[in-house]
Amino acid sequence: MKRPEKREVLVFQKREKLYDFLIKKWGEISRKAIQERGIFTIALSGGETPVEFYQKLADSRERLAWGKTHIFLADERFVPFEHADSNYGMIRKDLLVRLSLPPQNVHTIQIYQTPEISAEKYEEDLRMFFNLEKGEFPEFDLILLGIGVEGHTASLFPGDSALSETHRLTVAVHLDEERHDRVTLTLPVINRARQVIFLVSGEEKSEIMKEVLEKPESNLPASMVRPVKGELFFLLDEEAGSLLSQDKTALKK
Ligand code: 6PG
Repeated sequence: MKRPEKREVLVFQKREKLYDFLIKKWGEISRKAIQERGIFTIALSGGETPVEFYQKLADSRERLAWGKTHIFLADERFVPFEHADSNYGMIRKDLLVRLSLPPQNVHTIQIYQTPEISAEKYEEDLRMFFNLEKGEFPEFDLILLGIGVEGHTASLFPGDSALSETHRLTVAVHLDEERHDRVTLTLPVINRARQVIFLVSGEEKSEIMKEVLEKPESNLPASMVRPVKGELFFLLDEEAGSLLSQDKTALKK
């Protein structure tokens, strides 16, 4: 697959500035979506990295139209929402409880008997919400992603069969007990988003960022995110961007 027409890599010296940039970008994208289609659809990721961002967003004075914002999950760990590792549990605690978002605007990945059933039900919810015919995919206005140290994104892990999915919107992923089984959006969904933004921080991510950004042939899950029509942003803090060849890859902010 070709590189998206627009890929921007921004490395921020101060994490505060990164959050301000992302909040502004969220505002711009959501206003445009609401103007054009009446609502703003976004899929959020879990993990450690976005926690601080969600807290800042909840406290932000940027005027965001929460009543017209529909929040989905990019992936979920197969644990109850009350579990410390639940992505929705974290997003609810750090963001949603602090906003006035109508409950019907939050689209969780429910935990049923098996990850497969949860994936099927989530796919049904997406098909219904986006009013999709067979063979169609949703076009999220924005998908916010993170990256794991081995290059996974959402719950698409290196070597996993989920990476070669071409028809399904969501699939189940089986991992060890510590990382939990998961449900994830598939690449065809991620790559049809109008905008995809990676948020990456910490020195432990510097090597994988070099590989993802400077060796696309390595075919890591995060390198396979190439929105066909949309824009792709990598927002990194200084530590995560410390090994990048600044002149060709990244713009320092
Ligand atoms: C998850 C995420 C996942 C995450 C990366 C980075 O459920 O784990 O959605 O894809 O973005 O694992 O996680 P950290 O921010 O915790 O490093």
